[in-house]
Amino acid sequence: MSILIKNGRIITAADDYIADIFIENETITTIGKNLQVTADQVIDAKNKLVMPGGIDPHVHLDMPFMGTFSSDNYETGTRAALFGGTTMVIDFVIQTKGKSLFSALNEWKGRAEGNAFGDYSFHMSVTDFNEDTKAEIKEIIGKEGITSFKTFMAYRGSLMIDDRQMVGLMNEVKRYGGMVTVHATNGDMIDYLVAKNKSEGNYAPLYHYLSQPEITEAEATGRFADMAQYSEVIPYVVHMSCEGALNQIREATKRNQKIFAETCIQYLLLDASLYDKGFESAKWVMSPPLREKKDQTALWAGIDQGLIQVVATDHCPFTWEQKKAGENDFSKIPNGAPGIENRMELLFSEGVLKDKISLNKFVEVTSTNAAKIFGAYPAKGTIAIGSDADIVIFDPGEKHILSAKTHHMNCDYSGYEGWKVTGKCKTVILRGKIAVDNNEVHIEKGYGKFIKRKTGL
Ligand code: URP
Ligand code: ZN
Ligand code: ZN
Repeated sequence: MSILIKNGRIITAADDYIADIFIENETITTIGKNLQVTADQVIDAKNKLVMPGGIDPHVHLDMPFMGTFSSDNYETGTRAALFGGTTMVIDFVIQTKGKSLFSALNEWKGRAEGNAFGDYSFHMSVTDFNEDTKAEIKEIIGKEGITSFKTFMAYRGSLMIDDRQMVGLMNEVKRYGGMVTVHATNGDMIDYLVAKNKSEGNYAPLYHYLSQPEITEAEATGRFADMAQYSEVIPYVVHMSCEGALNQIREATKRNQKIFAETCIQYLLLDASLYDKGFESAKWVMSPPLREKKDQTALWAGIDQGLIQVVATDHCPFTWEQKKAGENDFSKIPNGAPGIENRMELLFSEGVLKDKISLNKFVEVTSTNAAKIFGAYPAKGTIAIGSDADIVIFDPGEKHILSAKTHHMNCDYSGYEGWKVTGKCKTVILRGKIAVDNNEVHIEKGYGKFIKRKTGL
């Protein structure tokens, strides 16, 4: 099977030029002007942008959480991702306290294998670091190709680890060249504020926001950076939402620490005024919560300055019925929101077209940096000879409207209902196969494969 993409404007993290791309089987084999080759299929990409498939390194598919499961599974979630130009996702395996990392990994393999449309990998979330878990780290990295470990500094009782476990984990991961990622918010402080708000009779979603002030995130981000500096492990802060946390990253870099940060599309585009809508605000109950306009300004600047390398989604959808579990108590609303399908088009429309980021930066933060940081580059994350043919052919001028009525995520509302967007993923190629074309899927579930990753940043 071969595909020739003709006349497209190829954008990578570094380049911007017009050329043809020849794909044989799963791989890009030739790039050049006016290629004279015979192909099984020819796509005319004139006036289109041709970019590397997106990589979303922060998604939760079929995740058991807060008494329910996130509503997109591997089938629906990776399929929706492809519609939005994301060809690879990294999900979080979550250890059950008292059980092994490998038992959780087997559970997640059972959910994913044979079901995914798009490519995927896993981070390993360690919720119980002890001598048994410690002994598993080497094999998780070396044999399974899972090189990143996720930690939670919040959600006491289910996901949270304490600082003693954190430092222990960091030391062990460091030994084998892996990295430690973090949900950096001060869980105990948040739990105190949740209890206080409820004791004062405040149960609306607004109090979810008011229970997680900026300082809870800034403090934990700084503490995490300090522990990583001490342990000499490479740290990565997920879903960073606020100026205070960004300033902690800035401080860490001033002492020459290597540290990575990710924000999510919702923190760049949505703000806390959405918590003024009564129970409807449950749609945006996520952790950390949406922040202020000044935080959005800081996050865009952080991307521009290279302090934030990745824009992800933290896609963790729950249906409206599931959200209603917290109708009378904000602390019971399952935390999370849909976004896997919208990230690339929103960032293009709101970021590139509004002159907040360049096209090269767009590719960097939606694909290349995630591939590099998480050890999948250059197979993933770029358009180059020898790379996987994961490609988005994008119409930069097509206007459309986001809506739950037309999206492919398994969620009956959209956090961006009615948003007018310019720019659309027209054709999405995954490892040499046309996965999506003109709003239709052309591959079968099970085509998506697990991507083993490397260490060595
Ligand atoms: O609200 C969120 N973010 N839900 C998913 C779990 C997490 O903390 O990332
Ligand atoms: Zn989190
Ligand atoms: Zn998350």
